[in-house]
Amino acid sequence: MSRVFSPSFRRVIRLQILFVLAAALFLWWPSTPSAKPATHVIDMDMTQFAFEPGRMTVNQGDTVVLKLTASDVVHGFYLDGYGLKTRVEPGIAQQVEFVADQPGKFRYRCSVSCGPMHPFMIGEMVVSPNQPFWKAAGVIVIALAGLISHVWFNDTKGVLDEQTQQEQ
Ligand code: CUA
Repeated sequence: MSRVFSPSFRRVIRLQILFVLAAALFLWWPSTPSAKPATHVIDMDMTQFAFEPGRMTVNQGDTVVLKLTASDVVHGFYLDGYGLKTRVEPGIAQQVEFVADQPGKFRYRCSVSCGPMHPFMIGEMVVSPNQPFWKAAGVIVIALAGLISHVWFNDTKGVLDEQTQQEQ
C-alpha cells in the first residue's frame, strides 16, 4: 500500500481542518451582547371574547408581570406550558408574575365560561430563544457537516486503497 497520500486524500484532510477551524471560530466569535433579562409589565384586559393585547412577545429569561382586568363579565387567564391559571372578576385586578424560561409559542386562553364564544377567547405568547441556543445549534450543524464529510471520505479512501493494492 502506498505511503504517499493521494491528492484527493490531502484535499479532504484540508476540508476537515476547515470544518474544525470553522467550529472553533464560531465558538470563539463574541456573540452580540444578548439583551439582559427585562421585566415586562403588561396591562391585559379581558372582555367577551378577547384578550387585549392578544399577543405578547418576550425574550427567554424575561420576567412578565401581568396586570389582569375584566371589563364585562368574569374571565379566566390560563397560560399553556406554564401552568398559570387565574380567575378575574370585573373590578378586581389580578397580578400574575412569572419568568418566561421556556422558548416557543404558548397559547393563553380564557378559563372561565364567559359566553357562547368562550372557547375562541385565545391569545399567544411568543418567547424568543436566547443567543446561546443559536450558538449551540450552529456548532452542531458544523460538527454534523464535518462528521458527514469524514464518513463519506472514509468510504472513498477504502476504495482508493483497494485500487492502490490492485495496481501493485
Ligand atoms: Cu372569557 Cu371565557
